This record gives sequence, structure tokens and C-alpha cells, in this order.
Amino acid sequence: MRHASLVASLALGLSALAGLAAVHQLKPAPAWTWSLPASFKPPRIPADNPMTEEKFQLGRRLFYDTRLSGNGTQACASCHFQHLAFTDGKAMSTGSTGELTARSAPSIANTAWNPTLTWANYSILDLERHMLVPMFGENPVELGIDDSTRNTVLKRFRDDPDYRARFARAFGPGQEAISFSNLIKAIAVFQRGVVSADARYDRYLAGQEKLTEAEERGRSLFFSEQAQCGNCHSGPTFSDQYADVSSREVRTPYHNTGLYNLDGKGGYPDGNRGILELSGKDADMGAFRTQSLRNVALTAPYMHDGSVPTLEAALDHYAAHGRTLRDGPRAGDGSRNPHKDPRLDRIQLSADNKADLIAFLRTLTDETLLTSPRYANPFK
Ligand code: HEC
Ligand code: HEC
Repeated sequence: MRHASLVASLALGLSALAGLAAVHQLKPAPAWTWSLPASFKPPRIPADNPMTEEKFQLGRRLFYDTRLSGNGTQACASCHFQHLAFTDGKAMSTGSTGELTARSAPSIANTAWNPTLTWANYSILDLERHMLVPMFGENPVELGIDDSTRNTVLKRFRDDPDYRARFARAFGPGQEAISFSNLIKAIAVFQRGVVSADARYDRYLAGQEKLTEAEERGRSLFFSEQAQCGNCHSGPTFSDQYADVSSREVRTPYHNTGLYNLDGKGGYPDGNRGILELSGKDADMGAFRTQSLRNVALTAPYMHDGSVPTLEAALDHYAAHGRTLRDGPRAGDGSRNPHKDPRLDRIQLSADNKADLIAFLRTLTDETLLTSPRYANPFK
């Protein structure tokens, strides 16, 4: 008996060694640690997809790899550029077959803390589930993977020895490890690891840096009842949609900010009517998720449809309690939108106030996010 178990454990030891040899005897990566400022709590991580450095690095390659689209022309990074805080600077993005998206591409930074994903969809609760949209979505086509290209796409990765080694390290050996399910898990781990928490404002909060007088005036105004901003753009991500490990109740509010009023009854343009598109409820007309303001100086054009070109224009919109469009098919007085969040009417901003708020918003730019080699294209 004893002898048999000894043989068994030897055999196990040997096969473990063989596994190591198969992955080029790379050194094991260090265990995952979050290094976050005090204002951030570690995010919630799905039990079946723990953070590991191997998955992070694999996911980073996949995020930048155009082999992940049906026709081989586009990657996630084609619409999420690091130097623009992982947005693309456009009102609408163009997919791999030339179709336009309905909304503007938001950042992937700090998405680990977002309890819902995209501008207006309370049914997409995690990054794994969200990824089916850009990969397999048909309305519009983004990466354009479909039944006719699924196997081709997987084969591209299975035929590449570097990917074979990386998938083996992240998920275990064998061709089956190179599956869409694991590929999605790896990219999700990469995205959860892309954190923006090193802006000048973060260093100010940590007592390491001072703000200028204008920035300081803008900061206190931002969180005041006079400007209202901090009532919706709250917490470390500057959004009232936020989830952390300690919170039992996750809040996922959506708000109408009076961008449109097409018919005098509060109508928003078709296809972009907020969560009404999902719920069918009138009260949800024009209700969108409070967008994070981190790196906002770099993420123009603004709002769900990129219809606000500059920060100055965004502040004019808030100062006027809604946007009035005088001409064209979208004309209407947004400030009289009956579905508008009532807090917008309390906002009072002078020209100086707007300039101070913009000075403050610029302190949310995080050079580490924009330049860190850890988040950069590994193929360059
Ligand atoms: C064709 C351009 C395009 C491509 C390619 C693309 N995205 Fe996006 N992404 C968008 C747009 C547009 C949105 C906003 C969608 C919406 O709100 O309806 C978005 C939203 C997101 C969000 C939600 C962020 C948030 O704060 O809720 C994440 C995460 C994301 N994309 C990750 C990815 C990943 C991962 C890939 C690759 C698998 C990818 N994207 C490929 C354009 C793109
Ligand atoms: C009632 C909640 C609420 C208040 C108050 C509020 N916001 Fe917003 N904010 C939102 C929502 C919701 C969006 C997205 C709206 C959309 O796209 O239709 C948004 C979007 C933005 C954007 C665009 C971000 C992007 O990346 O596109 C900026 C900039 C902004 N807000 C700044 C401010 C400032 C500055 C204040 C204070 C003067 C403020 N907000 C007050 C809810 C609010």
C-alpha cells in the first residue's frame, strides 16, 4: 500500500514537472496584489475568474490583437486607446466591417468597480458577459466574430506557439485551454487590472500634492449644493454607480440630464433613449448612467452620443439646466424635459465658476494610466 502511494505521488510529481517543461520553464508570476489608494476598496471579483498575473498579461495581448476579429482587422484597442484614457475620441466608433456604434466608447479603466456596464444597460453586470457584445454582436458589428469565423479565430491562437504557452500558464495545458470562455476571462482580468487612481487629485487626497487656488475653488464647488456635480459624480470613480466588496446593497441609478426634448414631452432620439429602450417605461426616457469623470480632459466628445464637443460646452449645458437645440431634427428645449433629474435645476454657475470647475476636472488626468507600459500595446 505504502509503496503504491509513493509511486502515485512520484508519478504526480513527474507529470507536474512535465507540465512545467511544456510552458518553457517560465518563472511563476507573483501572486496578485491590489495597490490602491485609501479612497479605493478592492473591487468585487467573480469567484470563477480570480485575478492572476498570467491572465492579466495574456488578456493584455488579446486586447491589442487584431486576430480577435472575424476579418482580422480590429482589436478591442482599435476603439479603446491608452493615450485617450482608453476612449477613441469619436462620437461614434466604427466596427470592423464599417458599421457605426450607436454610442460613444467609454474608458475601460476602473470598470472593475462598475456595477453595470455600458451607458444604459442594467442587465450587463460583469465584464465577461459584456464582452459578448463587441465580440459577437451583430447590431452593430464590432469585432464581427460569427459562426463562420469562430473556428478560424480560435485556430489563429491555437496555431501560435507563444499563445499556446501563455494559455497553458494561465489556464493549464492542452488545446482546449484556448477557448472563447478562457479568452474572455483573460481579457476581463486585464480590464479589472487597468486602474486609474494616480491623478494629481489622488495625490492631493493622499496629502502628497497641493492644488492651485483655481483647482481648489473648483474642487469645493464640484462637491457643493451650488454645483450639484458631486451628488451624481460621487465616490472614487466619480459615478454614483459604484460597487465595492463591503457594500451589500449595490446602487445602479440612471439619470436624464436634459440633453434633448424632441417633442416637448421629453423625447430623446430613437435608439438612444436610455434605459427606456430596455424597460419600456416612460419614466426611463433619456436615463443614462452617470459617466465617470476620471481623465475627462482627454475623453471628448462627451455624453452617450458624443454630442457635446468640449468641457466648456458640457458646463454650459449644466449651467442652463439642460441643452437647447434651436434647429434641425433634434431641436428642442432640454431644460424643460419632464424626465430630467430635479437636481439639475438647482445648479448655479457663473463664468468664473465654470472656469474653476474645469481647472478641477483637469486634475483628474492620470499620466500613469496614459503611459504605463503595463497597459500598453505589447506588440510594439
Ligand atoms: C468598434 C469599436 C469598439 C470595439 C472594437 C470594442 N469596443 Fe468596447 N465599447 C465601444 C462602445 C461604442 C462602447 C459603448 C457601448 C454602449 O454603451 O452601448 C463600448 C463599451 C465598452 C465597455 C463598457 C465600459 C463601461 O464603463 O461600461 C467595456 C468594458 C469595453 N467596451 C471593452 C471592450 C473590449 C474588451 C473589447 C474587445 C473584446 C471592446 N470593448 C471592443 C466600442 C468598441
Ligand atoms: C443628476 C445627476 C448629475 C449631476 C447633478 C451632474 N451630472 Fe454630469 N452626468 C450625469 C449623467 C447621467 C451623465 C451622462 C448623460 C448622458 O450621456 O446622457 C453625465 C455626464 C457628464 C459629463 C460627460 C462625461 C463623458 O465622458 O462623456 C461631464 C463632463 C459631466 N457630466 C460633468 C458634470 C459636472 C461638471 C457637473 C456639475 C456642474 C455634473 N456633471 C452634474 C449625471 C449628473
